[in-house]
Amino acid sequence: MREQLKSIEARAEEELSKVSDSRQLEELRVRYLGKKGEITAILKQMGKLSSEERPIIGQLANSVRADIEKAVAEKQSQLKAAMAEQRLKAETIDVTLPGKAPRLGRPHPLNAVLAEVEDVFLGMGFDIVEGPEVETDYYCFEALNMPKHHPARDTQDTFYINENVLLRTQTSSVQIRTMEKTKPPIRIISPGRVYRSDAVDATHSPLFHQIEGLVIDKGVTMADLKGTLELLMKRLYGEEAKIRLRPHHFPYTEPSAEVDLMCFNCHGEGCSMCKQEGWVELLGSGMVHPKVLAGCGIDPEVYSGFAFGIGLERLTMGRYSINDMRLLYENDMRFLEQF
Ligand code: DAH
Repeated sequence: MREQLKSIEARAEEELSKVSDSRQLEELRVRYLGKKGEITAILKQMGKLSSEERPIIGQLANSVRADIEKAVAEKQSQLKAAMAEQRLKAETIDVTLPGKAPRLGRPHPLNAVLAEVEDVFLGMGFDIVEGPEVETDYYCFEALNMPKHHPARDTQDTFYINENVLLRTQTSSVQIRTMEKTKPPIRIISPGRVYRSDAVDATHSPLFHQIEGLVIDKGVTMADLKGTLELLMKRLYGEEAKIRLRPHHFPYTEPSAEVDLMCFNCHGEGCSMCKQEGWVELLGSGMVHPKVLAGCGIDPEVYSGFAFGIGLERLTMGRYSINDMRLLYENDMRFLEQF
């Protein structure tokens, strides 16, 4: 047993010198000092010894155990120190290196202009409502006084899911949804995506955005329409902004008008930006047709109102002098970073 103990001590020392991490160290400790370890195994056999030998071997076993324990503890503190050293090295920060500045995001120009428009209307007591992009034929056309085969539908071809369900071509559908649900007075705008089967070019996209507006109350007139839009344009484009109303036709308004903004490049003289017109077409509008009101259960003898639909892309392009609509969708950082 004496020999066994000596050899255990020698082996433990030898193995300890090769240990390089704390997991190996723990494994070694258990193997020699643990409850099922080698030293314990020896102590368990002590019963076989004579009473003279027992204390001697006992003492030797204890001292071997103490030696190994001490060596293990030493190794442990060595390993700890080495690890701390390593961590310090790995985590050194060179404060003289140039830093990496975080890239700050910003709103897309379409969202920035939309936020401004929403602010203006919220300030006038309007609510902002949303409607579905997948819409029924009824809300998109029928209830807006455009029965099937109405020629005005031709200009708004779109993707049909089935005969009665389609991607909405205009946010005007939200007018109907709102009037069905809400009693006058009504003051809402409804921004959102619309879809048309248009080929992509500098001024067209099969997906674009509109901001619909609707006001219904007693005694609302065309002067209210003009005043509201004028205020919006002055807020967006500055006090010198001028608009004009041009007669037009929409099936869901009577009378109807297209609204132009005086070209701020040439102030009405005519230039290449406004195609020599002096004015830039901005939106469609009018007084809500009595048939549309009646269809939503609102008495046209009591109530009147106006509606308009603004193209957000056009508004944004005018605002920032952007000459190609595709730039708004391509997500080219070199373009977007300018705003
Ligand atoms: N929905 C029309 C379009 O997409 C725009 C429009 C015109 C909306 C007249 C209106 C309106 O609310 O009264 O071209």
